[in-house]
Amino acid sequence: MTQRMTILYILRRMAKEVRPYWPHLMAILLLNLLAAPIALLAPVPLKIVIDNVAGSQSLPWYLAALAPEALQHSRQGLLVFAVGFLVVIALLSQLRALAGWVLETYAGEGMVLDFRTKLFAHVQRLSLSYHDSKGAADSTFRIQYEAPALQYVMVNGIIPLAAALSTLVGMIWVTSLLDAQLAFIALAVSPVLFLLSYRVGDRLRERWESVRSRETTANSIVQEVLSSLRVVKAFGQEEHERGRFYQESARRMRALVKVAFLQGGFDLSVDITIALGTALTLYIGVLHVQRGMLTLGDLVLVVAYIAQIYSPLQAISKKLADLQGSLVGAERAYRLLDQTPDVAEKIHARPLLRAAGDVRFENVCFSYGGSQSVLENVSLDAPAGTRVGIQGSTGAGKTTLLSLLTRFYDVCGGRILLDGVDIRDYKLADLRNQFGIVLQDSVLFSTSLAENIAYGRRGASMEEIIAAAKLANAHDFISNLPEGYETLAGERGMRLSGGERQRIALARAFLKDAPILILDEPTSSVDVKTESSIIDAMDRLMQGRTTFMIAHRLSTLDSCDLRLEITCNTLCTLQTVGGISQGVHAL
Ligand code: UTP
Ligand code: MG
Repeated sequence: MTQRMTILYILRRMAKEVRPYWPHLMAILLLNLLAAPIALLAPVPLKIVIDNVAGSQSLPWYLAALAPEALQHSRQGLLVFAVGFLVVIALLSQLRALAGWVLETYAGEGMVLDFRTKLFAHVQRLSLSYHDSKGAADSTFRIQYEAPALQYVMVNGIIPLAAALSTLVGMIWVTSLLDAQLAFIALAVSPVLFLLSYRVGDRLRERWESVRSRETTANSIVQEVLSSLRVVKAFGQEEHERGRFYQESARRMRALVKVAFLQGGFDLSVDITIALGTALTLYIGVLHVQRGMLTLGDLVLVVAYIAQIYSPLQAISKKLADLQGSLVGAERAYRLLDQTPDVAEKIHARPLLRAAGDVRFENVCFSYGGSQSVLENVSLDAPAGTRVGIQGSTGAGKTTLLSLLTRFYDVCGGRILLDGVDIRDYKLADLRNQFGIVLQDSVLFSTSLAENIAYGRRGASMEEIIAAAKLANAHDFISNLPEGYETLAGERGMRLSGGERQRIALARAFLKDAPILILDEPTSSVDVKTESSIIDAMDRLMQGRTTFMIAHRLSTLDSCDLRLEITCNTLCTLQTVGGISQGVHAL
């Protein structure tokens, strides 16, 4: 298990994360601190009415300085002043609340937005092997539900904590002026409180971790089932999936109840500790009064102030416990951010505008992390413009071979050269820009068909899109749709048939006009008529490009210059088929 991050480490990282919002946070803190003095002003109008309007005392100097000269000399005038003062205070207090609310929302949501975007960008950079093993739901959950921890901790956690701390210091100061010994006794409970927070906080964090991981699992069940709803329905597994979801959610509920129990118990111990502290000060205070060290009036004042000391102390301890859940969220978000992509770009990677298309595999070995190797010592040489046909039994490693070329995974041994340069030396985006890819089962986005075709080249004009569709033999069926190119493809392109999706994918490749083509069984799921139309389009697409084409139906590979066969799952041998001897080594 990976080592836990300490709270201090997480807080430091968060503080750095939200650096652009420091001024906002300071302003929020100031507004929070203003609440106390404004609250102190609230009873002042009443005092004016009692002392100066009903009574006959003159205004104290600090109010006389505030009141307009004309109002000071009649009772009527003073009443107007008191009433006006009341409205001003209410306005001030509401304005403070409003400004605080707007600022908190702006800063809090802003920092979450930035953090989420950063996480999302990072998740896209992470290699396929990470996502293959973790699943999409885990990352989704961390981006959507763990990232807001930043707001909870920085805005709703640290600021009230800082405000409570400053109130605490002020109250201790005032109380110690009245009776230093009593203030000290009152404070004696604080180590107990902090020890409690520390011990319970640790356990709370553990429990929150278990809640969060259950939550992720339940979430991933929903996501998985909804994205494979056809299969679930076809096999009538709705009840089974419901059960799985219920079980995970029930575990989460039990974990949450445990959290509530622990947190409730903690709150109770804090309150009891504070009650004990109050009782002790009262007891000793009375002794002080009996010995004549303190007047009764002072004792009343001290007890009132001590209550004021305890309320921030109580707030601080409870806040510390409250924050644990958010800290767990933040830690999980940071864990995602700390994942390094296996397929990394070199620091001074070479740019590549357009490759000629010379591809060379040299003793390439690869395995998906397990002990079983998928490819061993694979070498091949495909000069620019070669059409390479690849065949082999299912699971032999054909798709894997081409995933290495696009750097979806990095080779475990040997190297792959493009135009004589190791592909790991190129900038990743530039490298991937050299490939037009059509897969076994093409996935479309839920946008319009035109946008789907333009995915390979953003900003292509409508004429270019239509030209590409025509080349891909897709124009006819698109024009026959009621909404033509504006038809929405549905989630993952599910509103189109397999053959239609393939032709859209081909049009995408035409538009991208990349020097190297990867066609991974693009006709495996279509009928013969559609297949011939797709093959016809592919033939056009392959003109002048280095092409790697995988096919189970050997006739599809007829037009290839070079035919390779991957045999045997582990010790893979590439063979020339059909007597072509272009630089292929059988190892
Ligand atoms: P491939 O996916 O390369 O096989 O997997 P293939 O030749 O293209 O097969 P078909 O024709 O499309 O069916 C090669 C091996 O790598 C494993 C598979 O289990 C298979 O044995 N593999 C594949 C993984 O371990 N992890 C993956 O993510 C993908
Ligand atoms: Mg395959």
